[in-house]
Amino acid sequence: MDFRQFDPEAAAILTAEEARQNDTLMMIPSENYMSATVTAAQATVFGNKYAEGMPGARYYNGCVHMDAIERLAITRAKTLFGAEHANVQALSGAAMNIAVYHALLEPGDTVMALDLNQGGHLTHGSPVNFSGRIYKFVHYGVDRDSERLDLACIAQQVRDVRPKLIVTGATAYPRFWDFAAWRRIADEAGALLMADISHIAGLVVGGVHPSPVPHCDVVTTTTQKTLRGPRSGLILCRSKFAQAIDKAVFPGIQGGPHMHTVFAKAIAFKEAMGEGFRATQQRTVDNAQHLAAALSAHGFRLVSGGTDNHLMLVDLRALGLTGKVAANLLEAAGIVVNKNTIPYDPKTPAICSGIRLGTPALSTRGMGATEMEQIAVWIDEVLHHPDDATRHNRVAAEVRELCRRFPVPG
Ligand SMILES: Cc1ncc(COP(=O)(O)O)c(C=O)c1O
Repeated sequence: MDFRQFDPEAAAILTAEEARQNDTLMMIPSENYMSATVTAAQATVFGNKYAEGMPGARYYNGCVHMDAIERLAITRAKTLFGAEHANVQALSGAAMNIAVYHALLEPGDTVMALDLNQGGHLTHGSPVNFSGRIYKFVHYGVDRDSERLDLACIAQQVRDVRPKLIVTGATAYPRFWDFAAWRRIADEAGALLMADISHIAGLVVGGVHPSPVPHCDVVTTTTQKTLRGPRSGLILCRSKFAQAIDKAVFPGIQGGPHMHTVFAKAIAFKEAMGEGFRATQQRTVDNAQHLAAALSAHGFRLVSGGTDNHLMLVDLRALGLTGKVAANLLEAAGIVVNKNTIPYDPKTPAICSGIRLGTPALSTRGMGATEMEQIAVWIDEVLHHPDDATRHNRVAAEVRELCRRFPVPG
């Protein structure tokens, strides 16, 4: 029976969320719309099966088709990224990073990563996260003036700290990562190099951000962000780490893989090989640049002056607004962004001085330069008139109208 008939109470909540996603601008840079194919793939009988172990070496019987689909997902992931080895079983982004640390490090080992308050991720050594409690993380940051990574300065810090592993990649850094330069820094200190490209994986596949794969020992990525797959993780590595990574995922930190998600990942990887995907990634970056230029023209200060990728950070201090207040005002007007710390933020992470905006979901909907300019006008109207509820309601109505012209795919 259709679940809408079976459980109208739950279905009503789903219908409301569908309406919210249709009628608002989804500008949180880590969010995107899956295709209808990837969405449907997750509701298949692959979810009924336990498949602990690796293809050809399972702990349960009845895994012949599990082996086939996992091998297909692995082959596609390797082809897509040009990697020597892929593990497609990680259940999420946090899990994939736990697995990599478990494979490469001993408790107490020293690791360097970007500070959470300057764009890093919780799993990159935050003291409230398992990573910061089990390993000795030393953080690097961005330069105070340029708000960019100063590689000469970081190279000196690496020489002083001598980490076993260097983690590159971020959750809120709007500039390119020069992975070749990071490799030289790691080699000089005899460190392993990892890139967590959760945010930019789609851009890498689409050829609009340099790839870390030729330079890093291990690369991790979530599959649900710019990559447009299901909510999950992917680990790529050099052959010499393959066994350690596979063993760290299972039995190291996980039980049975979610095979319905592995099925959906295989399909998402095929979609990402198409020309349409490349075009969407190019549009994502073009849109971010249009939006950044338009916001700057309206007088907003962008961290580091702009963006090279799919996201930007707006410093709200000159407006006298906190990130928390600004994100709530924008949400009421149908523009969904998240509050975010800016580098050297004087405010706490719960309040913040900035907001983080991204273009992946808008680009998936097919929006372009004209829409980015219109969105900048709306953001300007809302944030420069924080007490004008009538204006906010009008903007929300206009946002709804724009959204209807660009239906959500799937
Ligand atoms: C860089 C980075 N790594 C890891 C993660 C964790 O992913 P998940 O939320 O799927 O656990 C995120 C999520 O936003 C991220 O941005």
